[in-house]
Amino acid sequence: AEDGYDLWQRYRPVEAGYAIPATSIVSEGTTPPLIAAAQELERGLSGLSGKVIEVGTLRDNAVIIGTPSSSAAIALLNPDLTKAGEEGFIIRTTRLNDRPVTIIAANRDIGVLYGVFEYLKLIQTRQPLTSLNITDAPKVKLRVLNHWDNLDGSVERGYAGTTIWDWWKLPDVRHPRYTDYARANASVGINGTVLNNVNSNAVSLSPAYIAKTAALADTFRPYGIKVYLSARFSAPIEEGGLKTADPLDPQVRAWWKAKADEIYAAIPDFGGFLVKANSEGQPGPQDYKRSHADGANMLAEALKPHGGIVMWRAFVYSHEKPDDRHKQAYDEFKALDGQFADNVLVQVKNGAIDFQPREPFHPMFGAMPKTPLMMEFQITKEYLGFSTHLAYLGQYYEEALKADTFAGGKAGNTVAKVVEGAVDNHTLTGIAGVANIGMDRNWSGSDFDQANWYAFGRLAWNPQASSRAIADDWARMTFSNDPAFVAPVVDMMMTSRETVADYMTPLGLHHLMDTGHHYGPGPWVDNLERADWNPVYYHKADINGIGFDRMKTGSNAIAQYTPKAAKLWAEPKTMDERYLLWFHHVPWDYKVKSGRTLWDEVVVTYSKGASDVTTMRNRWASLKPYVDADRFEAVATNLMIQEREARWWRDASVAYFQSISKRPLPAGYSAPE
Ligand code: GCU
Repeated sequence: AEDGYDLWQRYRPVEAGYAIPATSIVSEGTTPPLIAAAQELERGLSGLSGKVIEVGTLRDNAVIIGTPSSSAAIALLNPDLTKAGEEGFIIRTTRLNDRPVTIIAANRDIGVLYGVFEYLKLIQTRQPLTSLNITDAPKVKLRVLNHWDNLDGSVERGYAGTTIWDWWKLPDVRHPRYTDYARANASVGINGTVLNNVNSNAVSLSPAYIAKTAALADTFRPYGIKVYLSARFSAPIEEGGLKTADPLDPQVRAWWKAKADEIYAAIPDFGGFLVKANSEGQPGPQDYKRSHADGANMLAEALKPHGGIVMWRAFVYSHEKPDDRHKQAYDEFKALDGQFADNVLVQVKNGAIDFQPREPFHPMFGAMPKTPLMMEFQITKEYLGFSTHLAYLGQYYEEALKADTFAGGKAGNTVAKVVEGAVDNHTLTGIAGVANIGMDRNWSGSDFDQANWYAFGRLAWNPQASSRAIADDWARMTFSNDPAFVAPVVDMMMTSRETVADYMTPLGLHHLMDTGHHYGPGPWVDNLERADWNPVYYHKADINGIGFDRMKTGSNAIAQYTPKAAKLWAEPKTMDERYLLWFHHVPWDYKVKSGRTLWDEVVVTYSKGASDVTTMRNRWASLKPYVDADRFEAVATNLMIQEREARWWRDASVAYFQSISKRPLPAGYSAPE
């Protein structure tokens, strides 16, 4: 049965019309990454060609892999590896001893493994192999998954089952799935993983858990993946028995230093800490009237001698009642620019609220030139229908990365370029993705959610890549290379996220999901403990209009953007209306670009979102001949659920807003039964 366990690494035999010239693999490397590379190539080539292709001697069309120092053949051919850098590779067809060969070469072992995955992808996507000359290297240094996995096995905002880390049986039992996890990640260039939830438990820093973490680190190491831990800021109290966690207290500093030394004794290449501090009730330096920089720098100092780094999150809520949550992170962090140690990155969500179906880019990007800002995307779909609704996030990530910050007043300083370090000359750079991985056989809770993991990795490697091209690769590798399948599926993926935005939060509306779990509509919720948790706080609908005024007349969050970026959203008449109600409170009778009133447009967009799901569902039904029965049914069932729930979103939202707007439905739109 096809259960999706193989992800995009299926390696099923290619059809007769496509030729794989490779006959043997030449690899002299003996280090773990080179062994992993040779094994992967053997597995991939054998599976794809339907013949046994082993590591052996040089033959015509052999594939030679290695670095100049691990392979005499590569050294002899002496390829130009200057552009491959630390982690990149080249793939080239050439000749050796008068034989045609393909070489996969790199400066370092890990680059060879990445090159092998790229070569296998060429076959999996049926690219010609006869004349290759590829050089590739990542544009971002830290490409990291964030697991929101708790030590009790649950996963915060996880929709793919319980955690894949079997904490109880670690460090002794090392499940084969740990290796498969590493293979999948390495295949898209992911080189780090934070094992535990940002809402963290200090026990994860205890000696027993350090040993468990070390076992995972050992398993991942051949695949170039470092482990990191979320560090609870108050751990010196809970784990260390101290009276305080004040970052300027010498005993606290000594505790963290000793803790770092202890971790590095077990895990010499430990990556470092991820920290959520003074946010949603988590402890942090502000508990002691210290700044985020004080807290981050203390940890940075402890990690520094070992080469570790701190990823300090900017997703913060202040305790005082804010006038607009949108502004908090920027307000707390902007003034700290220049105060962070050189092994600290500040990790910023793509938007200023919280992973909504659509958000404008976070105003911190481009606003803190002296601090490396790491992007944080959510792969798990907390606000986009969990793992049953189909929403391809590659297109979402690309939209965020392509946004122009106009940093320094200059056009072209996109979020991607800020994150790559290209705008402010940072070499320490990173992208994080909140993982959607769990114990489900298909890892991600649904087949199409695998695409979001895949796309995250590809865009972390190259933030300027095309999400459409990535979807195309993924669909081919995961399902079928038949053009009659690929084209409609890629089109469907590329519009799928917009469809979700249409039936959940059209025209810039946001945070309308039901409370707590964030599943399904709840625009009417108005009774939560904090005003800024209530959906009514975000849509501000009344009989006259709807939307959050973030202009000067309102919260003035717009002022956090550079003037040129702000200008794009300043004028309802000219702006991209998909952000309209994010920035403006607009009368229901206002005429939008389509010529309809805003009220009519809201109804029409909700309806369009719902009917677009029906279109997706029908499209998928027509693709049955190209997909195995198990995965076809699994996707079809999810689309059935999504269709039902998109109508639920439409009907509940339209009925609720109509109870406020008191306007009739536009002609042709009927009230729900
Ligand atoms: C969201 C999410 C929480 C999470 C938080 C965070 O608010 O709902 O579960 O802890 O983001 O990113 O820290």
